[in-house]
Amino acid sequence: MNNKVTFGSKFGTLTVVAGSCIGLGNIWRFPYLAGNNGGSAFIIIYFLCSLTIAIPIMMSEFVIGRSTDKNAFGAFKEISKQKKWSLVGLFGILTSFLIYGFYSVVAGWAISFIQTAFTEGFTGRSPMVIHSNFINYINTGWKPTIAALIFIFITASIVIGGIEKGIERINKILMPMLALIIIGLFIYSISLPGFKAGMDFLLRPDFSKISLNTVLSAIGQSFFSMSLGMGCMVTYGTYIKKETSLPSLALTIGLMDLSVAVLAGFAIFPGVFTFGIEPTSGPTLVFETLPLVFSMMPAGNIFGIFFFLLVFIAAITSSVSMLEPICLFIIQELKTTRVKAVLMVSTIVSILAILCAFSQVEGSPIRLFDNNLFDFLNNITDKFMLPLGALLIIIFVGYFANKEMVRNQITNNGHSFNKTFSLYYIIIRYVIPVILSLFILNLLGIMKW
Ligand code: TRP
Repeated sequence: MNNKVTFGSKFGTLTVVAGSCIGLGNIWRFPYLAGNNGGSAFIIIYFLCSLTIAIPIMMSEFVIGRSTDKNAFGAFKEISKQKKWSLVGLFGILTSFLIYGFYSVVAGWAISFIQTAFTEGFTGRSPMVIHSNFINYINTGWKPTIAALIFIFITASIVIGGIEKGIERINKILMPMLALIIIGLFIYSISLPGFKAGMDFLLRPDFSKISLNTVLSAIGQSFFSMSLGMGCMVTYGTYIKKETSLPSLALTIGLMDLSVAVLAGFAIFPGVFTFGIEPTSGPTLVFETLPLVFSMMPAGNIFGIFFFLLVFIAAITSSVSMLEPICLFIIQELKTTRVKAVLMVSTIVSILAILCAFSQVEGSPIRLFDNNLFDFLNNITDKFMLPLGALLIIIFVGYFANKEMVRNQITNNGHSFNKTFSLYYIIIRYVIPVILSLFILNLLGIMKW
């Protein structure tokens, strides 16, 4: 704890942070959101929201982490010298835990689908069979459970290795692989007859579809996609070297995250349109619609294997960023070892994952507020906990942290981005709090739990 742990290299830092951001959110939510909400008009709005809201929030989380070298809970306490602010960190750690619980179930599905692709393959199966296979799989309860536990185990074995030898090493290998796979899938998609229709769905600008709600969903999506609002980037901030420029890093990551999201759409929709299937979103897009596409596509099995590998890689580099913040909290606050922290958190999250997997079995009693546990966690974290966490974080940096400290972090003691600092400071003090407060009020109004 006394000697500072940092990422080993610039490339490492970039892959680790990008690994956190690029995840299931990019693959199954963004392409569909964009396609259904005005195509490139949505992409432009999303880009503007990332630039003015998400990227400044990411920078603010980095500031909190790097200036204190503490986990989310400890960092808030150290900067504010007040116990109550550490609750914001604690809230983030709880959010992290809940997201990790249901995320590991979905990632587990990807593992099962890789297995299916290898053993039975997708080719030649009818739509009915594909649909019922997925439902049957979910309804066993134990099959998704085992897959989720395998996923949690793999995540734990990476995080146990620590920052440089665990998380950074694995991201440096997996992120370039992810880039290659997604570019490969995209190139293949160009050869499909539905390429143009797919592009049209994703890109055709339709500004008439843009409403306040579209903007709100763009903001919500950017938080989830850029891993904001729960102290994940506070934790990664502690490992960022002091020479690294935080605005450049956040900007680069924002662009990478958006590029992968758009590329995922380029890889997915040409196939969907080639075979005249209705595009869907969420789990159904990845685990029902796409297997159907693979069943009809030439070389669909190979495409399928690589696609689910892509989903798996995207998910595992994100899940380490959910486990690490909780572990750093336990290591520093309960003064225990990394191994013990990882084992402890993994055990508890396994229980949550088992409950989530079984909550999806038809007729399961594991329900909260009219939703099964899985959907409940998915909704409450995404729609409520992340925006609230982000709002508190931004108010903290804008009003409670020392301005000179923030300036030194953002400009690296006056070396870069000096002019941008005032703009950033105005944005986090006035613009974002107003927008996020409206966002939360709106959500509270429409949430029907
Ligand atoms: N960003 C990831 C995705 O797009 C998910 C994720 C990882 C996340 N860490 C997070 C979401 C922290 C919110 C907060 O799938």
